[in-house]
Amino acid sequence: MRLWLADAITPIWSATEADLKRQSLDPPFWAFAWAGGQAVARCVLARPELVSGRRVLDIACGSGMIAIAAAHAGAAKVWANDIDPLCEAAVSLNAEANHVAIEWLGGDLLAAPAPAVDVILAGDIFYQKQMADRFLAWLGEAAARGIEVYVGDPGRAYAPDGGGPPLAEYDIETTLDLEGVTHRLTRVWTL
Ligand SMILES: C[S@@+](CC[C@H](N)C(=O)[O-])C[C@H]1O[C@@H](n2cnc3c(N)ncnc32)[C@H](O)[C@@H]1O
Repeated sequence: MRLWLADAITPIWSATEADLKRQSLDPPFWAFAWAGGQAVARCVLARPELVSGRRVLDIACGSGMIAIAAAHAGAAKVWANDIDPLCEAAVSLNAEANHVAIEWLGGDLLAAPAPAVDVILAGDIFYQKQMADRFLAWLGEAAARGIEVYVGDPGRAYAPDGGGPPLAEYDIETTLDLEGVTHRLTRVWTL
């Protein structure tokens, strides 16, 4: 997979704020391949049967890495969503670089029940309490409706207790600049 990514967070964060002439923007999550997302992408590529021929949503997509992996793994249709509108451009550029079709869904999908898809994939969504609680409730409701949900997490503060063995586990390379460590043990869970 080929992705347009940044090497360090501060320069692109400053550049984004300068370009948009706004301060206190959210970090440019779309410029990095987060450990949780890398794990889900790897898992889907290693086990294409999870998504092959199915309708897949990558929620909180950032760069679109998971969506691209799902498309490579043979998903029938892939949507990507993030509340950060800048992700639309990142997903578009990254999809183009990988010759796959990803449909962008803007806005906060968590405000309504999950759309009609077969599989929801999410990477690295448990780093803030309020956000983690909202995602867990929404994903739990989707799972109760029969949607398969797979979440990748590198041990963030508000990740739920997996409650069983993970579907997959990876030692993901990270950067000191982003994570303060060089590797994170990252697990993929089924909700
Ligand atoms: C750490 S990044 C992970 C990005 C990507 N999944 C990855 O693993 O590389 C978390 C993402 O969650 C997004 N996010 C936060 N709240 C959201 C919400 N309610 N709906 C959709 N995305 C949300 C952020 O904008 C950010 O892009």
